[in-house]
Amino acid sequence: MSFLDRVRDFFQRKKTVEIGGGEQAIEKQKKMGKLTARERIQYLLDPGTFHEYDMFVEHKAEDFGMDKKFLPGDGVITGTGNILGHPVCIYAQDFTVAGGSLGLAHAKKITKMMDHSMRMGMPLIGINDSGGARIQEGVNSLAGYGEIFFRNTRASGVIPQISVILGPCAGGAVYSPALTDFVFVVDKISKMFITGPEVIKTVLGEEISMEELGGARVQAEISGNAHFYAESEQECFEQIKRLVTFIPWNNRKKADKFQPKPPIFDKPIAEILPKEPNEPYDIRDVIKALVDNSDFLEVQEHWAKNIVIGFARINGETVGIVGNQPMVLAGVLDVDSSDKAARFIRFCDAFNIPLLTLVDLPGYLPGVDQEHAGVIRHGAKVLYAYSEATVLKMTVILRKAYGGGYIAMCSRHLGADFVFAWPSAEIAVMGPEGAANIIFKNEIANAPNPEEMRKQKVAEYIEKFANPYKAAANGYIDAVITPEETRDFLIHALWVSQNKEDVPPKKKHGVPPF
Ligand code: HXC
Repeated sequence: MSFLDRVRDFFQRKKTVEIGGGEQAIEKQKKMGKLTARERIQYLLDPGTFHEYDMFVEHKAEDFGMDKKFLPGDGVITGTGNILGHPVCIYAQDFTVAGGSLGLAHAKKITKMMDHSMRMGMPLIGINDSGGARIQEGVNSLAGYGEIFFRNTRASGVIPQISVILGPCAGGAVYSPALTDFVFVVDKISKMFITGPEVIKTVLGEEISMEELGGARVQAEISGNAHFYAESEQECFEQIKRLVTFIPWNNRKKADKFQPKPPIFDKPIAEILPKEPNEPYDIRDVIKALVDNSDFLEVQEHWAKNIVIGFARINGETVGIVGNQPMVLAGVLDVDSSDKAARFIRFCDAFNIPLLTLVDLPGYLPGVDQEHAGVIRHGAKVLYAYSEATVLKMTVILRKAYGGGYIAMCSRHLGADFVFAWPSAEIAVMGPEGAANIIFKNEIANAPNPEEMRKQKVAEYIEKFANPYKAAANGYIDAVITPEETRDFLIHALWVSQNKEDVPPKKKHGVPPF
């Protein structure tokens, strides 16, 4: 073959792979409202930056007619590229090729990328759109999944791992996303479940659609498996790009510093808290009034809404924010909100992101349901995560900080570096009503007007304990500050903590209450 013939042959081979499962399969993909794997990579990465590897990999399976089946790229596209100038490793399963099913060669392409991202210290992005283990390849497919899960776990805390569910992600395949840091889902497109509707019908005799079982809304609102929910694939890619700007490439780096910008929130920060201490308000307003450009990327926005977590910048530097949400269940800690906060705290700690905790909660949610669901075990995760974290920990107590809630929300006692409290802070063992009812029980019962006496005792308790000054007197908080001073105190805390060193005791690893 002449040189030119070889070049022509190369282009022909390349085209064959690039067309994936062919026109018909692509049309079917489009009819489902989905982009193709190649389009997804194009939309997500900076133009012209994608470099593809292993496009000529072929499977070696022989059973069930596989010896005669050519599967372009073995159903997955892998490579490296940039997202807004940040280097990333990426793979995208191609549903048009054997339903994106995962055989051994397909898995090896993915694990090669995972090894590469670990070695080179860059985020890994996996786009999942697959019928699961390639049935014809039997145990080799399972081996492939096992190799992926092993690497997901080894990479945890070393490089950020992002999973994008853009089609089915069924059976054991769901455990790769579950082991990664952030899971993105898209309405009507993402479907994630361990056992599908067919199995449920056979085993339990119940009819349920894939959407109701494990659609995007279910994963974002009910199960909490997903961290970001989008209405379209394009919106999902914009969310991923935004996230990548807030996090570092790996655990040896810090997130990029941006040009500092003042908040642009229209309500003055001192006017956000309602006049009455039991009235709700949106903690996100406080966040927006504190952070650069009022730009807050909320994580798990639709699940366990009684706690708010997410990324923002203060003076150009990324911070991870955890705030009780008084608008939902008065901002209590419960099973789900504890899980949500604890995992986020551990992500921030692993990736050198300072933590800012905004406190306003009456404590843990009481009730038989919560006790039986293991609120002790789940709640302990928050204590563990904060105590274990060695990044800069800044806490601002806005209003209520009662009982176990006070301790759990990054108190001085769990190693907070800076604890500030607004004059409106109420720091005590429990709320004034409950406390007065218990400690003045007899006085109230024996008074000529018990209700009047109760009110008087509640007021007495508030006067004495429901303020920040007892805690300040003991040095448990460092400063009582006004809402308007808060941003300045935080900027200063970030500045003076640049060289923070906190070396934890030597051990293989702890045993958190998973
Ligand atoms: C081989 C598969 C496949 C699979 C789909 N295909 N899933 N091939 N192994 N797991 C092929 C189909 O044969 C078909 O090939 C093409 O992909 C498109 O599939 P359709 O069924 O036509 O598409 P659709 O109607 O959209 O349905 C998608 C689907 C369905 C819901 C995902 O294909 C399905 O239920 N697949 C099986 C899912 C499953 O049970 N997987 C195994 C789970 S167990 P042709 O040639 O006709 O185009 C598992 C264990 C992992 O994953 C354990 C790890 C620990």
